[in-house]
Amino acid sequence: DETALQEHFERRVAGEERIEPRDWVPEGYRKTLVRQIAQHAHSEIIGMQPEGNWITRAPSLRRKAILLAKVQDEAGHGLYLYSAAETLGVDRSELTDKLIDQRQKYSSIFNYPTLNFADIGVIGWLVDGAAICNQVPLCRSSYGPYARAMVRICKEESFHQRQGYELLMTMMRGTPEQREMVQDATDRWWWPSLMMFGPPDGDSPNTQQSMAWRIKRHTNDELRQKFVDMTIPQAEALGVTLPDPDLRWNDERGHYDFGEPDWSELKRVISGDGPCNEQRIARRREAHEDGAWVREAAAAHAAKQAAREEV
Ligand code: 3HC
Repeated sequence: DETALQEHFERRVAGEERIEPRDWVPEGYRKTLVRQIAQHAHSEIIGMQPEGNWITRAPSLRRKAILLAKVQDEAGHGLYLYSAAETLGVDRSELTDKLIDQRQKYSSIFNYPTLNFADIGVIGWLVDGAAICNQVPLCRSSYGPYARAMVRICKEESFHQRQGYELLMTMMRGTPEQREMVQDATDRWWWPSLMMFGPPDGDSPNTQQSMAWRIKRHTNDELRQKFVDMTIPQAEALGVTLPDPDLRWNDERGHYDFGEPDWSELKRVISGDGPCNEQRIARRREAHEDGAWVREAAAAHAAKQAAREEV
């Protein structure tokens, strides 16, 4: 009966067992996984836009080739994650409709504009750096298909982070204008990168349950702290400052103390009122509509194939 199934499920999760698509799971577990995996996939797909704007404007063939590879990787990450979500009984076309109708979310970070090529380096350094902090623990998520998708994604994410940091190192060895561009981009992307980890734990409705079901392995604040501790030495090596006057090493804690992000900004951007929300959704809707004929042709071809096999 239901109680026995529930107890068996809790024991398996507590025993660090992997939950697979054919296993019985509580409806709440399935729902919160669809929510998180779908929004993770949407983030990857929308995340192609800020960087995609600079593929035709890259300063060299080498930078263009690297950026092209990275944006293609993001598309692939989105497809892995939609496939993982589909093992939970949803369909990617339904998820895409929810994204376009703004009934599902994507990461706030992609609602900020990429003003120049230093932004491409800072996105690799900070945004993909934050993604790595968040995604490495998800490789141990209790749901098998999600954890396995993360393993592959994390391998590609480290290339994304390294290419961004190397791009910035090159600019920091350039002209004073290039150094100023790197500092300006760092100032614009620092706080939004901290907001990628979600609201503070005390204001996070999903964290407790996601931790209990071992979907999440750390809380939002724990991962944010890990990201700050990891990034400060990188900023020092790069020769840029971070726009937080409260940033300082705390020997007792063994961590950096840092200022409070503007949570009202995060709420605004999540609710659709960020600098680029409208254009990101409009572009995604347009791409979906432009691709309708391909989906229809593929469906017609599949129907013909099936009819031929029946004969
Ligand atoms: N942007 C948009 N929505 C956010 C958000 C953010 N930065 N932070 C929180 N939210 C939303 C949550 O989705 C939730 O809304 P919902 O219940 O409707 O889904 C609400 O705000 C409350 O937040 P919670 O902390 O309670 O929600 P979660 O427990 O789901 O934590 C999360 C949020 C940390 C983003 C978690 O969902 C997660 O780890 N997701 C997987 C990783 C991910 O999606 N990363 C986003 C970036 S993808 C990326 O970086 C691609 C790389 O290639 C650059």
